[in-house]
Amino acid sequence: MLSLYDLTVEQRTEPFGLDERHPAFSWKLRSEKKNVIQASYRVLVMDHAETVWDSGVVKSAKSIFVTCEADLKACTSYTWQVTVSDGTETAEACSSFEIGLMNGSVFKEHAGWITHSFPREETACPVFTKTFCAGRQVRKARLYATALGIYEAQLNGKPVTDGRGESYFAPGWTNYKKRLQYQTYPVELNEGLNELSFTVGKGWYCGKLGFDPTPNLYGDQTALLAMLMIDYADGTKEVIGTDDTWQVCTGTVRFSEIYDGETQDTLSETHPCTTAVSYEYGFDTIVAQENEPVRCLTKLQPQRTFTTPAGELVYDFGQNLTGWTEVTVTGSAGQKIVLHHAESLDENGNFYTGNLSFAKAQDVYILNGRKQSLRPHFTFHGFRYIKVEGLKEGQSAEFTACHLSTDLVQTGTFECSDKRVNRLQQNIQWSQRDNYLDIPTDCPQRSERLGWTGDATAYTPTAAFNENIYPFMKKWLRDLISEQTPQTGMPQVVPNIMGDGQSGAAFWGDAATAVPWTIYRTYGDCRILADQFESMKIWVDFITSKCGENGLWQSGFQYGDWLGLDAETNGLSEPRKGATDDYFAANACYLRSLQITADTARLLGKTEEEEHYRSLYDQVLAAFREEYVTKTGRLVCETQTAMVLALHFNLAEEKHRARIASMLKTNIEAHKTHLVTGFIGTPYACSVLTECGMHELAGKLLLQEQNPGWLYEVNMGATTIWERWDSILPDGRFNPANMNSLNHYAYGSIGTWLYTKLAGLEILEPGYKKFSVHPRFFKGIEWVKLSYESVYGLIRTEWKCQDGKIRLEIEVPANTSAVLTLPEKEETIELGSGIYVYEYDTETSLHLDRYSMEMPLRLMMEHPVGKAMMNQYMPEMAENKLIEYVINEPITALLAYAPQAQPLYEMIIAAMNASEQ
Ligand code: BGC
Repeated sequence: MLSLYDLTVEQRTEPFGLDERHPAFSWKLRSEKKNVIQASYRVLVMDHAETVWDSGVVKSAKSIFVTCEADLKACTSYTWQVTVSDGTETAEACSSFEIGLMNGSVFKEHAGWITHSFPREETACPVFTKTFCAGRQVRKARLYATALGIYEAQLNGKPVTDGRGESYFAPGWTNYKKRLQYQTYPVELNEGLNELSFTVGKGWYCGKLGFDPTPNLYGDQTALLAMLMIDYADGTKEVIGTDDTWQVCTGTVRFSEIYDGETQDTLSETHPCTTAVSYEYGFDTIVAQENEPVRCLTKLQPQRTFTTPAGELVYDFGQNLTGWTEVTVTGSAGQKIVLHHAESLDENGNFYTGNLSFAKAQDVYILNGRKQSLRPHFTFHGFRYIKVEGLKEGQSAEFTACHLSTDLVQTGTFECSDKRVNRLQQNIQWSQRDNYLDIPTDCPQRSERLGWTGDATAYTPTAAFNENIYPFMKKWLRDLISEQTPQTGMPQVVPNIMGDGQSGAAFWGDAATAVPWTIYRTYGDCRILADQFESMKIWVDFITSKCGENGLWQSGFQYGDWLGLDAETNGLSEPRKGATDDYFAANACYLRSLQITADTARLLGKTEEEEHYRSLYDQVLAAFREEYVTKTGRLVCETQTAMVLALHFNLAEEKHRARIASMLKTNIEAHKTHLVTGFIGTPYACSVLTECGMHELAGKLLLQEQNPGWLYEVNMGATTIWERWDSILPDGRFNPANMNSLNHYAYGSIGTWLYTKLAGLEILEPGYKKFSVHPRFFKGIEWVKLSYESVYGLIRTEWKCQDGKIRLEIEVPANTSAVLTLPEKEETIELGSGIYVYEYDTETSLHLDRYSMEMPLRLMMEHPVGKAMMNQYMPEMAENKLIEYVINEPITALLAYAPQAQPLYEMIIAAMNASEQ
């Protein structure tokens, strides 16, 4: 039977307070029949019984982003119904949405900005209250609110929610001078007396921000703007807006800063109220919230409580996360409890806060003598461990970690036969959620937490698989536009708190082209390209304006291959950059951005602009080859990243590809099968290898357990992705570099390779309307399962190669098609929707023993079984001081000195492998 599900408006389910005059509808078809394609659809939009838009029956397969052509009214709830046919059956479903104010300046008619007149030195957060009487029966009530700062609202003592649970950090982070979001909440009033209250923290608006934490970046005073619109059952209306009849006092939150934490004094609940003060602030920048809000997604209990060697009482939640800790405790009145947050212990097992820069990450509670459950309101921390001070001997207290993130729908899952790779995938997903807190941040723990654009360029393709990031990125891309100027091209962080002193840097600025392109390809919404086209142009035109006579970008500041490991450590080079020539990388990225801009112009039908950017592309490419590729096909910069970029972005002539690919292989082998790439090279390295026929080598890099490598982190106990390949050194010490977070997602970009090359799912037509599945094998992974909830429906692919059989199962959602390449078969198969299973014989075995003669001696010496056997059978070797010179050599290399030891090594390796089974 044909049915419909997942009806969304602007990719959100039953959204409230949408300010799109012509919102776009999407739905998904489900059917157990094969080859189902939508033949026609009809959408009706209704305001109660009145039809405001009828698309009519449209013969089309379009089932995503169908835009409503009627002009919708502000503050109105609509239902919408869609009926589709696949040519034989029909299906119908309906859903709803509500339009917001449509124009933020409507606030002005009913409400005014209010603030407090606390003395300057007062750090407590203001609590604004209004008591009012709803004298008649209420039909519908909506609260619209925003603040300069961040707010939490309560109605009659209960948190105001959007109907789906509590949300935090409203109104979110934007450049408040240009865009200030308001939120819409459905509320239920008491018939009679009601009390509405708002606590407002400094948040991003006037709290301290940046690596040199600076307050008041947007203004120096918190303020509130709210209006409650009440429709009574008798047809009358009333609006309660913020004005100078509201009261303001200080409450229990005595201090709150995002980086430093929060202090609550629960003994100081009642403070004398004064009248709120009107505040001069405009209304013109107010826009509806576009993104899903931040919520608590999960709660974790401590897995272990212990006292460290330094005598600290520590709770371990077993997972590095972004959020805060809830404490439930009965204390004595006035008792002070302090919670410190950290991502890690140090090498001695003590609580480690050395990587928090200036962030204090500390919450302080003064208890009131009764049983209390407390949590902070206007701060968040990046932590796995808390250190608790102030508990009395024997006093019991419960601590729960609340994981906070923008509430996005999880769309992707990936699992395979190697549990270490599965932990890596979990780490990727954790770091994504941890850093998607209203904006895409770099890290959640130190005094930074900024919207670094380069991190977004590196990671967005992986993110778009894991969660439906459409609403999140739509909002952030509007932030990005709001921060661009032709003079600087692109800021390095969005929202831009660094001012216009810093202009666009390659790869970081490419977020302007690469992110919207990924969103378009993943979700199939061309409107995002139309919205971002001018922004793309600003960025590439900025670069063009910086190019010299040779047509290349070779001046100005660059981050380069950030955190790459191949730079000389001679004190002359920037120690945080890899060895790749800054401008080689910059021009490679420039070419990619030009290509996206030209492709976007084509899709938007902007022929002249397309021609302009295409011919510019050709000129820059020719100049690039002249400057950076020799006549015989060598690159003047032969780092891994340079070769990866040349191959990934097709920068060298076709005839030179093979040579560059082989140089890349040689380079990786010279690094003993390690990547030394930074932010620019890493996202594409494994994909390039697979595309150049070196999938097995890409697989070895994935499974590399020695530093640097993804599984090195996993083996070191990482529960999120680290900022540096070696954030924790092999001896357990923290990398002493001052910039060292354990929760950065850039290197999580390997996720894209897991999904597109190992599971083999790639987009052929935007939105996965058509996709390919091409699983590829390498030794060590015997099965893979992937699922992805696309805008058309669930895509699933599972392969297994075990016991002489290959089995592949693939699910193609209705209204899409797929091209399947079966492993070890030549032909490709075109598939319509449905579930398909293939099973056939093979001689291939993908089984791989974990330990082999290729492993470095160090691994054997560190493995419990290896170590014990070495002590037993070759004690002279274990104690030899010279061993440190060969400890990182593969065992095969050691055989040159002592071939007679081969059987002994083989025996130890066999025992090590047996111990893992
Ligand atoms: C951030 C990075 C960012 C970089 C810019 C760091 O402090 O954490 O992820 O991209 O600065 O170089």
